[in-house]
Amino acid sequence: MAGNWKMFKNPAETSAFFEKFLPQVASATHCEIVLCPPAINIPAAVAATAGSRVGVGAQNLYWKNEGAFTGEISGPMIKAAGAEWVIIGHSERRQFFGETDATVLERTKAALAAGLKPIVCVGEMLAEREAGETEAVLTQQFDGGLAGLTPEQFAQIVIAYEPVWAIGTGKTATPEMAADAHRIIRARVEAKFGGNTAASVRILYGGSVKPDNVKGLMAQPEIDGALVGGASLEPSSFASIVNF
Ligand code: PGA
Repeated sequence: MAGNWKMFKNPAETSAFFEKFLPQVASATHCEIVLCPPAINIPAAVAATAGSRVGVGAQNLYWKNEGAFTGEISGPMIKAAGAEWVIIGHSERRQFFGETDATVLERTKAALAAGLKPIVCVGEMLAEREAGETEAVLTQQFDGGLAGLTPEQFAQIVIAYEPVWAIGTGKTATPEMAADAHRIIRARVEAKFGGNTAASVRILYGGSVKPDNVKGLMAQPEIDGALVGGASLEPSSFASIVNF
């Protein structure tokens, strides 16, 4: 269960969140729990979660370790700050910051090289779904990106299926729609990396996951967890999603 805070909260608000959140998930051992705050809050999140089961992640990274790349942060920097995870290829990065399948692959390789666990996002836009192109889009995103990993690299990643039309809109994919998309992705994984890998790769669903719809989504065997935006900003809301 991963939370993506996007561009919300400052360091003091980050510490305050964990003070309330950690006691509410103290007995949750059925899943891994990860929060991905804005990079500037990673030290506060790492300090607040020390000794707990809650992991911390970044929301993006650049694929060079260091250099003249103003505004970017690297995998080794994220790792040194104490985070273990990183979201890669979120649809907002694809839509607003020029992320492509090829740069998703570069970032994923860089994250793995730095010892981070990538959560790699894929998903179709509304027009693509309405045009019946969901399978083609997911296939293209997989073949143009993640298929470039070695089997050893692929075994370490988590995939997040996030239909763009369901992000921040209150429109969740039905559990059946989400499961169908997960099956498409898993079939691509099987074709490229084999059945064992396809069975074991974790695929999260993201897009307006809330305390009141998480149960139905998680009842689908295809859905291994959730990547939660808005509902991860409030401690008791994200805690009730974790404790679904
Ligand atoms: P949402 O965002 O839960 O606010 O729809 C999900 C995401 O973008 O990861």
